[in-house]
Amino acid sequence: MSLNGKTIILTGGSSGIGEQAAIQLASLGAKVCIVARRSDELERVQNLIQQQGGQAWIYPTDITKNDDAQQCIEKILSEHKTVDVLINNAARSIRRPIMEALDRLHDYERTMQINYFAAVRLTLALLPHFLANGHGHVVNVSTMSTQVPIPLFSAYLASKSALESFSRSLKMELGDQGINVSIVYFPMVRTPMSSKTKIYKHMRMLDTDTAAGWLVKAVQEKPYRVTSTSGAIANALLNTAPNTVMSLTRPLFKLMDRRLEKKL
Ligand SMILES: NC(=O)c1ccc[n+]([C@@H]2O[C@H](COP(=O)([O-])OP(=O)(O)OC[C@H]3O[C@@H](n4cnc5c(N)ncnc54)[C@H](OP(=O)(O)O)[C@@H]3O)[C@@H](O)[C@H]2O)c1
Repeated sequence: MSLNGKTIILTGGSSGIGEQAAIQLASLGAKVCIVARRSDELERVQNLIQQQGGQAWIYPTDITKNDDAQQCIEKILSEHKTVDVLINNAARSIRRPIMEALDRLHDYERTMQINYFAAVRLTLALLPHFLANGHGHVVNVSTMSTQVPIPLFSAYLASKSALESFSRSLKMELGDQGINVSIVYFPMVRTPMSSKTKIYKHMRMLDTDTAAGWLVKAVQEKPYRVTSTSGAIANALLNTAPNTVMSLTRPLFKLMDRRLEKKL
């Protein structure tokens, strides 16, 4: 489906899934406004898009900083007549056992700053524009790891779960005023983020091209949820029988980590 003429703000487009999504969205005719901190990486992605005949604008911004993020949205709105879609993709992940984070409340604060507050900040800044136009689509990127019980990522997963709850409220409150909301539950994807965990080197993962296709699908079809079937089934089981599911999966994760460590 062509995205001709659609203006899309995409955060975290300087690497990984966001970079590929920017390229795919632009190749379908979208005008992509890419937001991330590193201007050199943003320029690289913009050049790639322009070489393929696409249109991209870049806005180097740390979206955890309130004033900078507000200025970024104001600049985008002054340069583009209409914004149709916001994709909240920028994030950071932390893998650490809770018992090693007893003096690290900042782990929890930092993940919330980018994964939750920055996404909410941009959404709130754009809502008046969306409502005035009678339409707007917010795509929030989450993870399959909130659909299943996963150890070692408490700070990251709590921030993503917060974003999911916000998404539900947004849909319930403004869905009948033209505001669409989608949540994308990615499984593991081979990117700079997942590569930080060395033991995941030998784990099977999606490539960024396929993952970016999930974001394109979210934009084109506006489903409430983009998920793997296994994520959806695991989530239904977890909601139905949480104690049983958690006691069955706990030893499995320990076994998986031991096996992956051996392969290193
Ligand atoms: N990779 C996986 O296995 C996986 C699995 C499930 C879900 N996800 C989700 O998929 C999304 C993309 O992840 P990825 O793996 O592609 O990660 P990535 O390659 O590490 O990219 C993260 C992006 O976020 C941007 N970013 C980080 N902090 C920022 C800030 N303060 N202000 C503006 N931009 C910021 C980074 O750009 P700068 O550094 O230039 O700012 C970068 O473009 C994330 O929401 C992630 O949680 C990933």
